[in-house]
Amino acid sequence: MSMSKASVILTVIVLLLISSKEAASIQSGSRSILRAVSSENKARVDYAVDLNSTNFDVVLRNTPAAHAVVEFYAHWCPACRNYKPQYEKVAKLFNGPDAVHPGIALMTRVDCALKINNKLCDKFSVSHYPMLFWGPPSKFASGGWEPKEEKSEIHVIDDGRTAERLLNWINKQLGSSYGLDDEKFENEHLPSNISDPGQIARAVYDVEEATFFAFEIILEHKMIKPHTRASLIKFLQLLVAHHPSKRCRKGSAEVLVNFDDLCPPDMWSPDKQEAVSDDKGMLGNFQICGKEVPRGYWMFCRGSKNDTRGFSCGLWVVLHSLSVRIEDGESQFAFTAVCDFINNFFICEECREHFYQMCSR
Ligand SMILES: *[C@@H]1O[C@H](CO)[C@@H](O)[C@H](O)[C@H]1NC(C)=O
Ligand SMILES: *[C@@H]1O[C@H](CO)[C@@H](O)[C@H](O)[C@H]1NC(C)=O
Ligand SMILES: *[C@@H]1O[C@H](CO)[C@@H](O)[C@H](O)[C@H]1NC(C)=O
Repeated sequence: MSMSKASVILTVIVLLLISSKEAASIQSGSRSILRAVSSENKARVDYAVDLNSTNFDVVLRNTPAAHAVVEFYAHWCPACRNYKPQYEKVAKLFNGPDAVHPGIALMTRVDCALKINNKLCDKFSVSHYPMLFWGPPSKFASGGWEPKEEKSEIHVIDDGRTAERLLNWINKQLGSSYGLDDEKFENEHLPSNISDPGQIARAVYDVEEATFFAFEIILEHKMIKPHTRASLIKFLQLLVAHHPSKRCRKGSAEVLVNFDDLCPPDMWSPDKQEAVSDDKGMLGNFQICGKEVPRGYWMFCRGSKNDTRGFSCGLWVVLHSLSVRIEDGESQFAFTAVCDFINNFFICEECREHFYQMCSR
């Protein structure tokens, strides 16, 4: 069976899932976590992400955003303090749960007045405050900038003195026409073209979020049983090779390598359960897509309609993005792995049966 057929089936099943009552219970299961995380976010007033030499490389290497803006400043500098609200106005468009244009650019800042950042600021030849750079996030990570370097993909933003001018500058780079007053993002459509690298990059936020919750649900419902272990292992193999997010691939690989320790065959045996009643085992402490996931909000999957929202939508994107990355030679393995995974780890009985019928055709 070809994978394109598989992806059609996946689409159908996830649409079924969405309309089911169980989908609602999946969402409410994860809602407590979402609430915990989002109340944390409320305390944060800044949209721009504070970076220092400890996390600079990691954050920029791992962000799903396609571009990054780095502001080098000094907290004592009056011009920098005056500039902050301007920078924040733009950061608000691109960063955080209320971003109107999520996934496009990560807006960050580095305080060069902190000793720990001295080397970092030197690497970028920071000559005045505030000094702004633009470039691909991966080029910032373990990168640098020198005034005479012509081929660098990192550029100084030479005209960003006000929020309007900064956004104009960014618009010019992107060929976009974003405005400071753009309305709150309401996405009523799933990513429509999953072969479009831009859409995938933005959808990766949700793919990561959904991957985390898929495992959270498996643990919450204690679904790893002697007869389902093999199926989980197969699905993990698929994730290691084809998950669109590098850090989820890495996390899946770690789970796979340590599978017997993280999921010992007796992890939920009756004796153990009595000892610790709310035990998710060692796997429960493992963040499959890294420390930053879950973020507690969805990017694309936050439409107002049920079927474009939350976990169901995220899962759709996960399965879909897997199906487009599968090579021909492994489509049979992949198809079986996904079918078995759905069959064993979906809590919607009706969808599972439906899907199982299609899978066994
Ligand atoms: C969306 O889901 C909620 C429960 O999760 C339900 O009460 C509501 O009727 C649904 N809306 C639509 C349009 O299906
Ligand atoms: C660097 O940033 C991280 C993450 O925000 C923070 O936990 C850490 O305390 C910062 N280090 C210094 C020296 O400010
Ligand atoms: C999807 O995106 C790819 C890459 O950007 C493009 O070549 C293709 O034409 C797009 N397809 C549709 C249906 O828009």
